[in-house]
Amino acid sequence: MFERTPMIAGNWKMNLSLDEAVALAQTIGSGIGDTSKVEVLVAPPFTHLAAVRGAIDESRIFLAAQNMHWEMSGAYTGEISGRMLQQSGCTHVILGHSERRTLFGETSEVVNLKVKAASFLGLIPIVCVGETLEEREAERTFDVIKEQLDLSLDNFKADQMMPTTTILAYEPVWAIGTGKTASPEQAEEVHQFIRQWIENTFNTGTASQVRILYGGSVKPDNVKTLMTEPDIDGALVGGASLKGDSFVSLVRYREA
Ligand code: PGA
Repeated sequence: MFERTPMIAGNWKMNLSLDEAVALAQTIGSGIGDTSKVEVLVAPPFTHLAAVRGAIDESRIFLAAQNMHWEMSGAYTGEISGRMLQQSGCTHVILGHSERRTLFGETSEVVNLKVKAASFLGLIPIVCVGETLEEREAERTFDVIKEQLDLSLDNFKADQMMPTTTILAYEPVWAIGTGKTASPEQAEEVHQFIRQWIENTFNTGTASQVRILYGGSVKPDNVKTLMTEPDIDGALVGGASLKGDSFVSLVRYREA
């Protein structure tokens, strides 16, 4: 069986001053220890990317942005291109986060354009999907996830191949920032469904290599049980990634 390296990713959202961001990056860099068995990633706000890159340069922490535009350049006031992200030191970009989808009207069709542009540039996309509470209660979780995957990854479907470096994140909307985590069983059920979708859409090899992160109120005290599930390959963490000690404990979850 293919061994997938777990990833612990911190999504800082619209938080932290520049100084706080640099200090947090330094704390993480010096606290995480051996990173050969776990990949660590942080996603600061756009304006902090270059400084955080400087602060983590000596460590093996990956840098991601939280969003990007799909065009390479042009008259798109207020937008940032993938190439600009690369120039700021990003290797990854989070796409289709539920806050983008619900607060900024980002559709899966738009996410697909962004995934396509990121892949063209060699930026690794972390593509988020997840159902709302209403959708879960109406027993529509799998339909919603399938539709989000079908549309957001349509470009890979058209190519009949998805790069195995692509990262997917299952983030139930009802668990984000609410303190309500999906139980490990609830999360695993959806992760399994996503892996099966990859297998059906592409092939077994791709399905066994693509990492699927869980996100939604992941904390140092629940990460270990989530990580014991076979199809959960890491965590995309919001709130608990903003404090050095809690993020470092998340990265070192095996030692807890
Ligand atoms: P949370 O956020 O950990 O604060 O629930 C997760 C996310 O939005 O990625």
